[in-house]
Amino acid sequence: MKKNDKPQSTAVIGLQWGDEGKGKIVDRLATEHDAVVRYNGGANAGHTIVVDDRRISLHLIPSGILYPGKKAIIANGVVADVEQLLKEIDNLESQDIDTAGLVLSDRAHVVTPYHKAEDARRETLLAREFGEKEDTGGIGTTRRGIGPAYADKAHRAAAIRVGDLLRPDQLRPLVARSAQLAHQDVREDPDLPSPDAITDRLIEIGELLRPRITDTSYLLHDLQRAGKRLLFEGGNATLLDVDHGTYPFVTSSNSSALGIPAGAGVSPKSIHNIMGVCKAYCTRVGGGPFPTEIQGELATTIRERGREFGTTTGRPRRIGWLDLVALRYAVMLNGIDRICMTMLDVLSGIDPIMVCNAYEIDGHRTERFLPDARSLESAKPVLISLPGFTEDITGVRSIQDLPSNARHYLSYVEEHAGAPITLAGVGPDREQTIEIS
Ligand code: IMP
Repeated sequence: MKKNDKPQSTAVIGLQWGDEGKGKIVDRLATEHDAVVRYNGGANAGHTIVVDDRRISLHLIPSGILYPGKKAIIANGVVADVEQLLKEIDNLESQDIDTAGLVLSDRAHVVTPYHKAEDARRETLLAREFGEKEDTGGIGTTRRGIGPAYADKAHRAAAIRVGDLLRPDQLRPLVARSAQLAHQDVREDPDLPSPDAITDRLIEIGELLRPRITDTSYLLHDLQRAGKRLLFEGGNATLLDVDHGTYPFVTSSNSSALGIPAGAGVSPKSIHNIMGVCKAYCTRVGGGPFPTEIQGELATTIRERGREFGTTTGRPRRIGWLDLVALRYAVMLNGIDRICMTMLDVLSGIDPIMVCNAYEIDGHRTERFLPDARSLESAKPVLISLPGFTEDITGVRSIQDLPSNARHYLSYVEEHAGAPITLAGVGPDREQTIEIS
């Protein structure tokens, strides 16, 4: 495939630990697709898109919603915090953004207050065991109830799906059962509403969402048959994938491209082009190994310049050099066709720029990633130094106008990542993107 071919359907996948700037890329690609589809995760994801100087933060709703006439589809693989969903709908509507295209799978699972309380309970326990701060330690989850909601999905007995919100007679015993099965500390948490109150609210929300609830798998197949172009938007990112990321410091879904068929109910053959998004450096929120992590003043400079604070939780993100070992792995795993590198402008003035091309483990060098936290912990980065650039590049719109060291950085990464870089981000605005043919 040539770099700028426009295939029928596209996936946009984060290649690192999240927050790569996928929202902006999805937003850009949405213009040439008919529907944007979320297939995994929940309100743990966060996209911030800047439109006309307004920063719009979305957690559950696909970024395609910002274009009138596009469908924004929350598919079956998502765990939906329906209360949060209503808030996002209200927020968009209060800014005169049309949400008519938003639909939700009747088979998506519902995140309840029990899930959030259980997430917090487990994190607090782990944090105590690890000797970390109780409110941020442990796995470092977003405490949005993601893990417990997926666990209930796998347990089945007390899981609630969006379709159940429309069947009050069945919903009430389901909520009662989930209260009964919840951990005693959660069940007796005085801050949680009673099972009846939770049920009443879910029924209310179900009525509000009723026109948007549908079988999204059939909808996607109908769209495909009608020749419409689908854009799959990955929540979270590859190195947080529950099967292929740095387990156990991961999220609870298949957040790489590998999750698309199951999470959206489409054939793997229906994904024609897979675009990977990576930053010019690395960040990570939450716990877990991070071989290229840097501390001190330089990390602070990058964090502040790149506004590296969580969209969902506001936590300061950990900062590191670009890890090419991890990037190559993510490119391989997802079958990436094209890479978009974001935040290149943040590196301006940093000289030299370091990248990691291999790890050293117990004196042995490897160029392979270790998708397991306990193994990755012992990896020391083998860093290579590349010349930096000093110019402000936020106004640059074509590759020729980039400083030669910035161009060199892009081509070095492209050569070692295993896929072409076709877009480079030089700022948060829609326009601050350079096409590389
Ligand atoms: P959970 O998904 O809330 O269970 O969190 C599990 C891990 O994934 C934690 O380290 C979170 O910080 C991280 N995580 C989940 N979603 C995102 C995301 O969209 N961006 C960055 N990190 C995320």
